[in-house]
Amino acid sequence: MLRCKGAPKSLCGRPGIFFFVFLVIAPRAFAQAVSPLPRIDRTGRHPALIVDGSPFLMLGAQINNSSAWPSTLPAVWITMAELGANTVEAPVYWETLEPEEGQFNFSQVDTLLDGARAHHLHLVLLWFGTWKNGSPGYAPHWIKSNPQRFPLVRKPDGEPVFSLSPFGKETLAADIRAFTALMKHIKSADPDHTVLMVQVENETGVWGSMRDNGKEANVAFAAPVPAAVLNSMGMHDSKGTWAEVFKADADEFFCAWSIARYVEAVTAAGKAVLPLPMYVNAALRDPLQPSAPLTYESGGPTYDVLALWHATAPSLDALAPDIYLPDYAKYTAVLDQYAFSWNALFIPEMGNRADYARYFSSALGHGAFGFSPFGMDATGYSSFPLGAKRLDEQTLAPFAWNYAVAGPLQRELATWLRDDRVRGVAEDPAHHTAEVKLPGSAGKPAHWQSTVSFGLPAFGMGTAAPGNKAPEGEALIVSLGPDEVLVTGRQCRVDFNPTGTASNRHRMWDIVEEGSYQGGQWVRTRLWNGDQTDYGLNFGKEAIWLRVRLQTF
Ligand code: DGJ
Repeated sequence: MLRCKGAPKSLCGRPGIFFFVFLVIAPRAFAQAVSPLPRIDRTGRHPALIVDGSPFLMLGAQINNSSAWPSTLPAVWITMAELGANTVEAPVYWETLEPEEGQFNFSQVDTLLDGARAHHLHLVLLWFGTWKNGSPGYAPHWIKSNPQRFPLVRKPDGEPVFSLSPFGKETLAADIRAFTALMKHIKSADPDHTVLMVQVENETGVWGSMRDNGKEANVAFAAPVPAAVLNSMGMHDSKGTWAEVFKADADEFFCAWSIARYVEAVTAAGKAVLPLPMYVNAALRDPLQPSAPLTYESGGPTYDVLALWHATAPSLDALAPDIYLPDYAKYTAVLDQYAFSWNALFIPEMGNRADYARYFSSALGHGAFGFSPFGMDATGYSSFPLGAKRLDEQTLAPFAWNYAVAGPLQRELATWLRDDRVRGVAEDPAHHTAEVKLPGSAGKPAHWQSTVSFGLPAFGMGTAAPGNKAPEGEALIVSLGPDEVLVTGRQCRVDFNPTGTASNRHRMWDIVEEGSYQGGQWVRTRLWNGDQTDYGLNFGKEAIWLRVRLQTF
């Protein structure tokens, strides 16, 4: 006989059992089975992307703009497998989603969802809406062909620019309606959260004019700068119009405010339907040199307006740089500019030339929760000279190395990233060794610092590092405890020195284990000693992790 343990006595008759099982137990079990929404957690040292309850490291790849079609997706899945990616970033085209006003077709989204699931991948959906690289190229025909209803940005002389005005009320309403329809569809079609995040618009901003000079825009430009904008920039005591307060920067800052305000409305409406993490991507200005007006896309979340964007569009979880700057100093400067407390660092796009791959380690060293080269599919399209000439095996190999190294322990790495235990180095062609400060442990200063050298042979000491022929080296070091590290590298030598001033203390390898994390446990495959450690820890092109205990003598 069935015993109703724990159930009220009155429920122990037959109808009572029915009631208890279907109304009390079943909903609870169902609630447990539904996976929680991905979210950004800000309680650690770096913001973390939480997927299925724990930090997740996005090993991503973005496909070419016109590759999210049933005819081209097979070529996408090939490259994702070659890379070992865990997440694919793919566009959703407004023109395809809403070909006629108010009539939605979600088949493109469903094709992406089915394909990603079949290939065990997560998705980041890119909303190609009002802005795609500053233009309305992906807006439906009924928008593009009706500038009376959906106005374009105007230059100071009144000439139109191929960019929708952020003051277009009907444009905003139409974008919100389409974006919320998309989010509603994801909510019902994706209960398991294949979709981890959504990018709102694509590279917002204006090329060819520093701001909209239309009638409404000019009225707003002549009004006082909102207090929230001034406060975000620490200018609490300033007041006046945009031109009075910001002088030479007025046009750009006004443009950023007007676009951020628009994007906030779209994002907030989308999140009200389904609060997935959402971000915007940035077409960058030169991170090291001042950029002359009209030489960059004005109004997007470039480094000089990050605080303004954050204050104006608080629903966004991240302001993310698209890094098409292969130069070491510039790439690193961008990471420094976008990695700070309230911004969850994420690289949604970067060049796919082989020399970009090494920046994976620097991005992780800056606490990034995701990394995604652009143009990753086997359709044969090449964005050279911005990207690689060909996406051949040689080009893919270093990106695949990153994901082969990080994939098996992505959950552990994501947790260490959140806790600021990870340091990363990319080879700087101007300096062939890098000194790396490790984080301290339990509130105490680090016992060790590391030297990473590039271009040395695996055997022998005493020569200065010449650098690799092409700058391809990288290293990742995780501090596991005061005298224990996990280390990997590509085309480099890693060594450690005790910190402090005592010159009579030297590094001794206590133990160097090669192995892997399996089910959260470190499993040793062999020990390194003798030639393999006498000259430092030398890494070639294999994906290897070493767990190292250090001592002094
Ligand atoms: C940045 C854009 O966001 C991408 O969609 C693409 O157009 C690349 N530039 C260039 O290939």
